[in-house]
Amino acid sequence: MERIKQAVEKARRLQQGANASSTAPAARTRPVPAQFTDIESVDYRHTRVAPLDAAHLEQQRIVGHDKAHPASPAIDLLRTQVLQKMEENGWRTLAITSPTPDAGKTTVAINLAMSIAHQTQKTAMLVDFDLRKPHVGKYLGLPEHLSLNEVLDGAASLPEALVNPDIPRLVILPTLRPVARPAEILSSAKISNLIAELRERYDSRIVIFDLPPLLNTDDAISVLPQIDCVLLVVGEGMSTKAEIEECKRHLPSKNLLGVVLNKAESITKPYAY
Ligand SMILES: Nc1ncnc2c1ncn2[C@@H]1O[C@H](COP(=O)(O)OP(=O)(O)OP(=O)(O)O)[C@@H](O)[C@H]1O
Ligand SMILES: [Mg+2]
Repeated sequence: MERIKQAVEKARRLQQGANASSTAPAARTRPVPAQFTDIESVDYRHTRVAPLDAAHLEQQRIVGHDKAHPASPAIDLLRTQVLQKMEENGWRTLAITSPTPDAGKTTVAINLAMSIAHQTQKTAMLVDFDLRKPHVGKYLGLPEHLSLNEVLDGAASLPEALVNPDIPRLVILPTLRPVARPAEILSSAKISNLIAELRERYDSRIVIFDLPPLLNTDDAISVLPQIDCVLLVVGEGMSTKAEIEECKRHLPSKNLLGVVLNKAESITKPYAY
């Protein structure tokens, strides 16, 4: 408990530091521009806010918040296809996985969540369920604080672990440290209850789960049956045809929402009006 108290204190100090940026001698971070402010906002009075740094996000290829970025149309196109298919089927929870590591799952998951949050009707929640290599917090640059780690240990409640990255309608449940026995945890009653709670609390919410790769361990397969649908991210040249076929054997075709070919050489020029 002492460690958690110290983490909370540290986060509070960091938060105060961020809020006091107008009096700071030299601001080193570039805040994310407030381009969502004209759109209806969700009440986050009870969710901790952690402002993001635009330069850090861009370094990590997180650009879903920036409508002027050249990758934005592709992310929004994916968003619309995903939302249409989920709506048609009454699905509210989406898993993101890949055949093998490094395909770009976490990058796609964060960008997609940001793009969904930009839509007025939807709230997006992103949950880091890669319990071996949790990277959502690192890519977003979230400060050390309560997270899914403490929720699993019984040291924090779910609302205490949620973060709003100062983007309306976007909520993150980060995992800040690797978790022991991930497959057992992901198939536990605790995780089933958590998924049910996240799904049922708000019916206008899309919950995205960033999962580990499908073929290296049984982690992803342990939790997939509890998630409505799956998006498979394939890095160009990173998976063999046999590996993709094997993934399709694990995923019931009615739940496979689609395949994203990531890290591909662009064959189209950027399209702009
Ligand atoms: N479209 C892309 N083009 C170039 N690099 C990319 C692209 N998408 C992701 N990357 C880079 O590839 C690396 C791996 O990305 P990411 O961590 O999102 O993959 P992952 O599938 O989640 O990996 P892991 O299996 O470790 O969880 C990162 O350095 C990321 O910035
Ligand atoms: Mg990842």
